[in-house]
Amino acid sequence: MVLGALPGFRDFYPAELAERTHIFATWREVARRFGFVEYDGPPLEPLELYTKKSGDEIVGQLYNFVDKGDREVALRPEMTPTLARMVAARANALRKPVRWFSIPQLFRYERQQRGRLREHFQLNMDIVGESDVTADAELLVGAIEIMRLLGLGPDDVRARVSDRRILHGYLLAAGVPDAAFGAVLAVVDKIDRQPRNVSEDKLRTLGLDADAVRAVMAIPECTTLEGMQSLHVRGSEEVVREFSRFASYVEALGGGAYLQPDLSIVRGLAYYTGIVFELFDAKGELRAICGGGRYDTLLKQSWGPDLPALGFGMGDVVLGELLRARAILPAAPPGVDVWVAFGDGATVEDAMRVTSRLRARGISVEYALGGQQLSRQLKAAAAAGARDAVILGAPNAGLGEAMVRRLGDSQDGSKERRVLLDDWIGTLGSPGATRSSTHS
Ligand code: HAM
Repeated sequence: MVLGALPGFRDFYPAELAERTHIFATWREVARRFGFVEYDGPPLEPLELYTKKSGDEIVGQLYNFVDKGDREVALRPEMTPTLARMVAARANALRKPVRWFSIPQLFRYERQQRGRLREHFQLNMDIVGESDVTADAELLVGAIEIMRLLGLGPDDVRARVSDRRILHGYLLAAGVPDAAFGAVLAVVDKIDRQPRNVSEDKLRTLGLDADAVRAVMAIPECTTLEGMQSLHVRGSEEVVREFSRFASYVEALGGGAYLQPDLSIVRGLAYYTGIVFELFDAKGELRAICGGGRYDTLLKQSWGPDLPALGFGMGDVVLGELLRARAILPAAPPGVDVWVAFGDGATVEDAMRVTSRLRARGISVEYALGGQQLSRQLKAAAAAGARDAVILGAPNAGLGEAMVRRLGDSQDGSKERRVLLDDWIGTLGSPGATRSSTHS
């Protein structure tokens, strides 16, 4: 029996790894442009790190066990608690605001569905130590810039944004009891994924009267800035003004075309306190690409330092699906730059010496391990995607000479030229180079 990967876990063959690398490179590039520095933490954490703050949904999905030292541990399902702990431990020494990013692999024992696996990689970008909405705008536009750099425009992706405090004020004004707030949010979070009557029944069970149920069911209709501004809210009027300021900052930073105010965005995690957002494919066919928001009380409640914080997580799974559907992922991984082949007049050691000199100049090189007929070597060179094959010991090459054959478009030998080996090597790469330079 062949053992496959566990359900919800992926094997990354080179073609798939190339896609992942493309996504990671874009994440790192945007993080760099926005002045974020990279960090990491342990993949295995004390169970307690998640049971207290992350909320029931994630706790129900934990991969947890007791280790050989009798510790209750869990594979990390998200990065935010680790980040909060790390920043809190050095809260005084760190330059604020902290702008950090990380690309952890995360583990959640989820029910299998499209876009949801049991492991995924997630870009986390977080800002700690800034309470003004300029930070919220900066962060959201960071997520938007990733979309843009990957080739996804405002017609492909929408950034749906809300504020939990506005929602709170709206629910209070609608007569929803404060005690039911958390449970009502959980219903709102699923409102567009479950039948209307199921949501309504849940709300009635929570003790909401008919008016309050109607008010909650109307939340998804609030999808414009004007709609937000005209909401009847109790005690959150200032927050509504702040939200308008946030929207104008997003515009100024170049992300306005993607912005979609949407009161129904509440986020599943328990620790969010203010502006929250999720990025979705515009057709609404897939699950969220990215989610985040403000969690101003998490550090204080868990670790002591009173530092406001905000961030987002962007997974590689839905993003990969979207890029594949649009056919905007890079093609197969690039091949080697040069293949060193050897005919009857040369040995494998000759090939090795030339290979070694080329590699020292940063060129990516293969040659036939185990030795082969020249014709088979040249076939292997083409299959490896080499741009050039250099043929040592070819019948009509003189001392210190070789034939260089351009592969790819033409295999008929017409692109073959005689070179002085030393001179030719000198034209490629550079001494001490670390990257291939002949493939453009
Ligand atoms: P989250 O909404 O649980 O937030 O996850 C963020 C993103 O990670 C989702 O939008 C989705 O793209 C991806 N994701 C989550 N679970 C899975 C899964 N099982 N399979 C594939 N992709 C998945 C958080 O985790 C927060 N800690 C984000 C955050 C950072 N908030 C503040 N800072």
